[in-house]
Amino acid sequence: MGMVRSIREKKRLALTKKRILITGGAGFIGSHVVRRFVTLYPDYQIYNLDKLTYAGNLENLLDVEAADNYEFIKGDIVDRSYVNSLFADLKFDHVIHLAAESHVDRSIESPMEFIETNIIGTVNLLEAARMNWGDNEAECLFYHVSTDEVYGSLEQGELFVESTSYDPRSPYSASKASSDHLVRAYHNTYGLPVVISNCSNNYGSHQFPEKLIPLVLNNIKNEMEIPVYGKGENVRDWLFVEDHAGAIDVIFHNGQRGETYNVGGSNEWKNIDLINVMCNIMDEKMGRAKGESAKLITFVKDRAGHDLRYAIDSSKLQRDLKWKPSLQFEEGLAKTVDWYLANEKWMNSVTSGSYNDYYEKQYGDSR
Ligand code: NAD
Ligand code: DAU
Repeated sequence: MGMVRSIREKKRLALTKKRILITGGAGFIGSHVVRRFVTLYPDYQIYNLDKLTYAGNLENLLDVEAADNYEFIKGDIVDRSYVNSLFADLKFDHVIHLAAESHVDRSIESPMEFIETNIIGTVNLLEAARMNWGDNEAECLFYHVSTDEVYGSLEQGELFVESTSYDPRSPYSASKASSDHLVRAYHNTYGLPVVISNCSNNYGSHQFPEKLIPLVLNNIKNEMEIPVYGKGENVRDWLFVEDHAGAIDVIFHNGQRGETYNVGGSNEWKNIDLINVMCNIMDEKMGRAKGESAKLITFVKDRAGHDLRYAIDSSKLQRDLKWKPSLQFEEGLAKTVDWYLANEKWMNSVTSGSYNDYYEKQYGDSR
């Protein structure tokens, strides 16, 4: 048959492997998870279910799209009967659930999509797993990927641990908190084998430039204003996206059913300090005079309900599952800057069309 396998042959082979449904695999973190699993685990069959919203982009996965153990499925997790039929047809035995509406500012502007995808979409997947796994449950796993934002906002000196009470404060974080509760409810009530992780802010390649780091890099490159919310004093804990994908790998394979793991970089930055670092790096990379990019910094109206500080204590994951971040922030940020500069085509394709409408609505015409 040579190297090209027929669809039937592909399906037959797929039935002999671990069949993992990854949702949201065309997005930022999802694409790193898909790449990692397709590449490292040729014995697993990876199905990437993604609606391809503005945030989903198959160009993120060009390097693995032809792999034998990979299949892309375009579909919406909010469509319950569709999700059920997919489970019945493809017999997934594992789920890594990342699909979500993920941007806080969009959730403030338009919360309903967040309720639908993040809550209803998650329950649809839980229900389909419950209905289809039955007696095979011991072999199965529903892994829900969540955020540290469910814990709310921290004062100086505190850290989020797994037992920190939930206190979500935006429609985005409330929808993610709700989905976390539902995942735990399916474990407690039906015994569904689940694991949850709550991660801090990710950065790295292929992130949609509505999020701080790629937005700032793109604006500096194009000599556009850098919009800093409030006084730029909010603090975030940044983790390289490939380290998050590594943590998801470790938790998927070794995490205890019913447990939650916090994932973070122990790498806190005030927004304004981080933006200044990016300005300095970009001055060098673009051959501009020192201080040139920082002139673009513009303080704008604060985000409504803006959480002051997030910081993760990931010692449970480090102690129990032996995970740790693989690189220092300076190295990760340098790699990230280089990637965006080298991938102008990617940036141009994701910032065309509806991006301009979003940008104008969110920031006014401040270019
Ligand atoms: P993203 O917005 O880049 O990607 C989300 C993906 O989900 C996109 O490919 C999109 O097309 C898909 N999607 C959206 N609605 C869908 C639907 N109804 N049906 C099917 N697919 C749909 O998000 P991200 O930043 O990669 O985040 C992925 C997950 O990780 C989310 O659950 C998010 O809450 C969580 N998380 C993100 C961060 C972060 O810093 N970005 C940190 C912690 C946790
Ligand atoms: O903590 C994990 C969360 O991190 C994830 O769950 C979310 O999906 C992800 O979007 C991210 O949320 P944040 O709101 O922290 O990320 P964002 O990149 O939108 O903003 C980071 C900080 O920068 C925040 O304090 C707001 C500020 N900011 C952001 C933008 C887009 C600005 O000052 N100006 C901006 O233009």
